[in-house]
Amino acid sequence: MKKIIITLDGYSSCGKSTLAKQMAAHLNYVFIDSGAMYRAITLYFIRHGIDLVNVTAVHEALSRIQLSFVLNEKTGRADMYLNNENVEEEIRGLAVSNQVSQVAALEPVRIFSVAQQQLMGEQKGIVMDGRDIGTAVFPEAELKIFVTASPEVRVERRYQELVAKDPAITKAEIQSNLEMRDHIDSTREFSPLKKAHDALVLDNSSLTRDEQLELALSWAKERIESA
Ligand code: DC
Repeated sequence: MKKIIITLDGYSSCGKSTLAKQMAAHLNYVFIDSGAMYRAITLYFIRHGIDLVNVTAVHEALSRIQLSFVLNEKTGRADMYLNNENVEEEIRGLAVSNQVSQVAALEPVRIFSVAQQQLMGEQKGIVMDGRDIGTAVFPEAELKIFVTASPEVRVERRYQELVAKDPAITKAEIQSNLEMRDHIDSTREFSPLKKAHDALVLDNSSLTRDEQLELALSWAKERIESA
């Protein structure tokens, strides 16, 4: 059976990663969370106080960053490592979320990340989620999905995800973070978030996880058969 590349793009918190993970597990493909890479770079920039308008400092910082995904035997998922340190948990918090879109908008950061993402797709058989995967990283991907969900549904989902770890978090904080990121991600100069002209739209506002998976897998099977 021929392997293909599947891309999932869309706004923050519409369930892209959940769907991408499930699709990869069903197809026996590799799942890659490209957002984790931008988050890990952001964590490095925060820790080292990198001034985002200082291009030399940004380049220098990137030259000191090594990113890798390492399988976590307990969860069965790949954790994000920054210079050999597992940062999976830390990159999900609000401190990183509040800065990541500004960092991801920088051209050197995009060039650095996209080159690594393209290498990961060389053997095909991957499901990658992000913002520019179907437009800039793999414009020739066999299946591109643009995932959407209503703003209320997205805030609720992110709240449920974060409240266990941070009981003081509020829905208003999450809503303003999502609105800010959506705005920066879709209006930035370098590879802004937009639907690829040949992407299939999946609005999961009123779909269960199983229903959206079934629909996406039916598209994948069709594309794999005709690859
Ligand atoms: O998917 P996520 O919320 O973990 O992504 C974090 C941020 O990284 C998001 O606000 C925008 C940026 N990002 C990007 O610019 N391009 C990608 N391919 C993936 C994420």
